[in-house]
Amino acid sequence: MSDFEHVFDAPPPGAAADWTISQNWRAYTEVEHDTWDTLYERQMKILPGRASDAFMNGLKALDLNTGGIPDFAVLNPKLKALTGWTVECVPGLVPDDVFFDHLANRRFVSGQFIRKPDQLDYLQEPDIFHDVFGHVPMLTDPDFADYMQAYGKGGQRAASLGMLPQLARLYWYTVEFGLMESAKGLRIYGAGIVSSATESVFALEDASPNRIGFELERVMRTLYRIDDFQQVYFVIPSIEALKDVTLKDFGPVYDALKGQPDIAVDVVLPDDRVITRGTQSYAARGGRF
Ligand code: PHE
Ligand code: FE
Repeated sequence: MSDFEHVFDAPPPGAAADWTISQNWRAYTEVEHDTWDTLYERQMKILPGRASDAFMNGLKALDLNTGGIPDFAVLNPKLKALTGWTVECVPGLVPDDVFFDHLANRRFVSGQFIRKPDQLDYLQEPDIFHDVFGHVPMLTDPDFADYMQAYGKGGQRAASLGMLPQLARLYWYTVEFGLMESAKGLRIYGAGIVSSATESVFALEDASPNRIGFELERVMRTLYRIDDFQQVYFVIPSIEALKDVTLKDFGPVYDALKGQPDIAVDVVLPDDRVITRGTQSYAARGGRF
């Protein structure tokens, strides 16, 4: 699920110079369309009351449940009219600079394939369900849309300063695994959570993980795991608040981070705003669902 690893050094055959490929929507099989419908229905039993209003409103605005995998030719005009974003297919994970350049130009990149029917619960590489169902609804929120574009520009800069690991943690703990406060309690907005039936419940309700108030430097110092449920989630007060702290110049932040050690996934620090102190029992018994 890391968007910061890559396999190829150049676009594979059939891909454009910016690594995009055609969605080739007509080539999806009946089984593949059914997989989308199954996953969509399953999440809709879980997400109301758990996912943020921004996510639920985006899902509704984009109408991603018309039967089968969404056709980007239909989806993109709606998304573009709302916030200027589009979604494009790529053959797999792309190099960092390619990923950042797409984001900086309000293009979100998605896998073209969908998981096999026997992989509904877990897969290593992001497929079109994770990328479109998980990520694209949040891109209808104007502040989140700005945040993602700024992230792309920030990525280009962080790369030149040797600070990509730190910036990747910010992506991980917001875009992928973020929680936010709401008048009605904690809500999910991270794509890695909303696209997972099991983590949607775990992230909000399980006693095991720590849930800690978002603080930029704290997040950028915190390691993360890509192979199991998170041991810590960071909670933003609102999307506007996230945008406020991240639109500032990161130069001083990066300088401050240079002398600081990384923080392990299960640690609670004295200065943390602790929302839930987890038992860590899930990880202690070996995890993996
Ligand atoms: N403000 C950051 C910088 O100066 C860029 C950024 C914006 C990074 C939003 C992440 C999210 O580098
Ligand atoms: Fe993702």
